[in-house]
Amino acid sequence: MDAILNLCKRRGFVFPSSEIYGGLNGFFDYGPLGVELRNNIKQAWWQDFVHRRDDIVGLDSSIIHHPTTWKASGHVENFTDPLVDCRESKMRYRADQLFFAAVRVAGETIGYVSVLEDEGMQAKAEEAAQDLKRKLARQGALEPVVLRDFTEASPEEIPLVPSPATGKPGSLTPPRSFNMMFQTHVGAMQDASAVAYLRPETAQGIFINFKNVVDTGRVKLPFGIAQVGKAFRNEINPRNFIFRSREFEQMEIEYFIAPTADWEAAHKGWIESCLAWFESIGIPRSKLSLYAHPKEKLAHYSKGTVDIMFEFPFGVQELQGVAARGDFDLTQHSEVSGTRLDWFDEAGKTRFIPHVIEPSVGVDRVFLALLATAYHEDEVEGEKRVVLRLPARVAPYKAAVFPLLKNKPELVERAKALHARLRRRFNVYYDEAGAIGRRYRRQDEIGTPYGITVDFETVEKQAGVTVRDRDTLEQVRMSEDDLVRFLDEKVGG
Ligand code: GAP
Repeated sequence: MDAILNLCKRRGFVFPSSEIYGGLNGFFDYGPLGVELRNNIKQAWWQDFVHRRDDIVGLDSSIIHHPTTWKASGHVENFTDPLVDCRESKMRYRADQLFFAAVRVAGETIGYVSVLEDEGMQAKAEEAAQDLKRKLARQGALEPVVLRDFTEASPEEIPLVPSPATGKPGSLTPPRSFNMMFQTHVGAMQDASAVAYLRPETAQGIFINFKNVVDTGRVKLPFGIAQVGKAFRNEINPRNFIFRSREFEQMEIEYFIAPTADWEAAHKGWIESCLAWFESIGIPRSKLSLYAHPKEKLAHYSKGTVDIMFEFPFGVQELQGVAARGDFDLTQHSEVSGTRLDWFDEAGKTRFIPHVIEPSVGVDRVFLALLATAYHEDEVEGEKRVVLRLPARVAPYKAAVFPLLKNKPELVERAKALHARLRRRFNVYYDEAGAIGRRYRRQDEIGTPYGITVDFETVEKQAGVTVRDRDTLEQVRMSEDDLVRFLDEKVGG
């Protein structure tokens, strides 16, 4: 993870937001290369799920909706996380990410340990338990520690659990509900009547436009509405770099099906489509797994949710959620707004509220998963090399063009002309500074898949250019026309 962070900063993928003012926790800025990678992820997703399908149309709704949207959707009441304060350190924790256990020796509880959700949580807790035992210098066999999350702590246990910040018990408060929506005011008045929210998901913008799309979009059930856009959550503990931030971007589809349709089959089908899409953009199946939410922990709108998990450097964590939301949202908005958000079935001459399957993924998490998969260190010609093995479709630059030597005008001229030709269709870099090996290395580190060199044979014998493959290091010669076709095929997806 450190190596990825370092590369992101050094090469201009991601910067801490407002860095000159000391940064702002949970916010990030994407630099020149980061914005390209992000745009390519979004473009690939849009192409595959909207342009290349007959049954999904797009939408771009406003970020701030009428505030009643969030009452109807249940977010004002339910979009909360359980918050725990440490009165001494002033640290704040999410109770469901704060785990604790009683330490028992020979059947007797001798104290409590706590640990924050992280990789190797159980191992860390065992270690802390041993430590506690050493401190108390008691004899007897230590029983295995059994972790529970802090939402399950009884009122008697709460004062006994040590704060992760101080290591001492007595300062943690009982969990209380904390609403994660950012509030703002619309217009000049700052009173309660002007309160509005920054959307915490793009999904509601889709539901409240359901009728508009049905009336204008020539859609037929089953069909989907897709949206890509920013979402905001006042996360208690933003962490793991861009994995959990307070401003992020989502790519969501609401896929509407008839209430009589087999929702479980549709849900399963979407999980498979999402897994296949991840593989197609370079996130291997071997790093992905599924986690079905237990019934009692489902979000307020869900009939069933399966998370697609990715093996991040800090542990296996959610990359995407695929939820079956039933008819919850359209029913709520119909009832609260008084506008019928339903579907008229011509064949059966019936009206009904469709059910919905919702694949929802964060752009920033896909970004991180791609970097974590692509980052490699190897050795080329006896030198350590950092290489990002990003697929051409998502790589910031598709190729880099180099004249072999900077001081040969005929090479420079030809390379610049080729660069100008290629950049009409692809994002291509031009570099003439330094030894050719160094120029290749600079591109390897930012994931550019092809290095194109204009040399004397290109100019004197019209022998084409050399194309070096970032991963195999093989070089082949091809004409400039063939190169355009070659790149088209590699980049297209
Ligand atoms: N509309 C459903 C919904 O928003 P979610 O599981 O809360 O469901 C969907 O979020 C996806 O959005 C997650 O799988 C994750 O990829 C991304 N996401 C959620 N919270 C995030 C955060 N704080 N930072 C970055 N990405 C986040």
